[in-house]
Amino acid sequence: MSISEEIGKHYDERSPIGDELRDGQIHMWYWFDRDDDATLPEAVHRMSRKVTDTLGLRPGEKLLDAGCGPGETAVYLAGEFGVEVTGITLSAYEIAQGGKRAEAAGVAGRTRFEYGDFTALSYADNSFDAVLALESLQNAPDLATVLGEFFRVLRPGGRLTFSDFSLESDRDPARVAKFVETLKLGALPTLPEWLDLTRAAGFAVEEYTQCGPRAFGMKTKYLETAMRSRDEITAKFGEAAVGEFSRNHLGFFAPRKDQIGYVIVSARKPG
Ligand SMILES: C[S@@+](CC[C@H](N)C(=O)[O-])C[C@H]1O[C@@H](n2cnc3c(N)ncnc32)[C@H](O)[C@@H]1O
Repeated sequence: MSISEEIGKHYDERSPIGDELRDGQIHMWYWFDRDDDATLPEAVHRMSRKVTDTLGLRPGEKLLDAGCGPGETAVYLAGEFGVEVTGITLSAYEIAQGGKRAEAAGVAGRTRFEYGDFTALSYADNSFDAVLALESLQNAPDLATVLGEFFRVLRPGGRLTFSDFSLESDRDPARVAKFVETLKLGALPTLPEWLDLTRAAGFAVEEYTQCGPRAFGMKTKYLETAMRSRDEITAKFGEAAVGEFSRNHLGFFAPRKDQIGYVIVSARKPG
């Protein structure tokens, strides 16, 4: 099985429960502190807004959502900003979900969900105004190749935003190794390494942040809120599937809270 097939299978298997729990978004949450009473879907939507606001989208622009998951982010952006979104993923489940969500939200005319591998994009040079990679670069086998592809398909002056995990402390490498294996990460760069990779691909970095304490650092908050949906999720997917999903948390939450950061990087292809 190729790496792309393996990643596609990983999301075909994992996305359905994640989709249900987090309202169509397979990414991290953002809670300000333990007293913040946002629900899990609200906290996940908050992260979507925080990341995508940095793109500065305008009506009619063409956006590539590279690694689009089950489509909620693309649907939100098409509705909120009037952009035309092409969502690509390696997962057949996610492509189907994206289409259904867009229909239900009335934005099917402005969204397209298709199979696509961001290590070798099928689009012409300069064909997008903006590229979003919301927690998808983490699965890239070679970050320089993928960032090079994003650079190629963006028009001069076009914007890239990505968000992903960063390594904040390697004092306990065995814990980090479990995290990397569970999530099928291709790499876990530090924030300075993320910035270097972005610049090496030709981009000018314009904004970045590291909000790990409000994302990975809120693991207890995630577990509490996710547990509230356990009965509902079990009724829908069955005890065995929920058991398997829960076991993955052991690897996901193996690192200490301060070991894993969360970076948001926004950059521009020089015009
Ligand atoms: C953690 S999920 C994030 C999904 C979505 N961005 C979200 O926030 O809900 C990672 C996504 O990246 C996609 N992905 C991983 N490797 C990819 C590749 N080589 N080409 C295209 N998509 C890829 C997966 O299929 C999945 O949709």
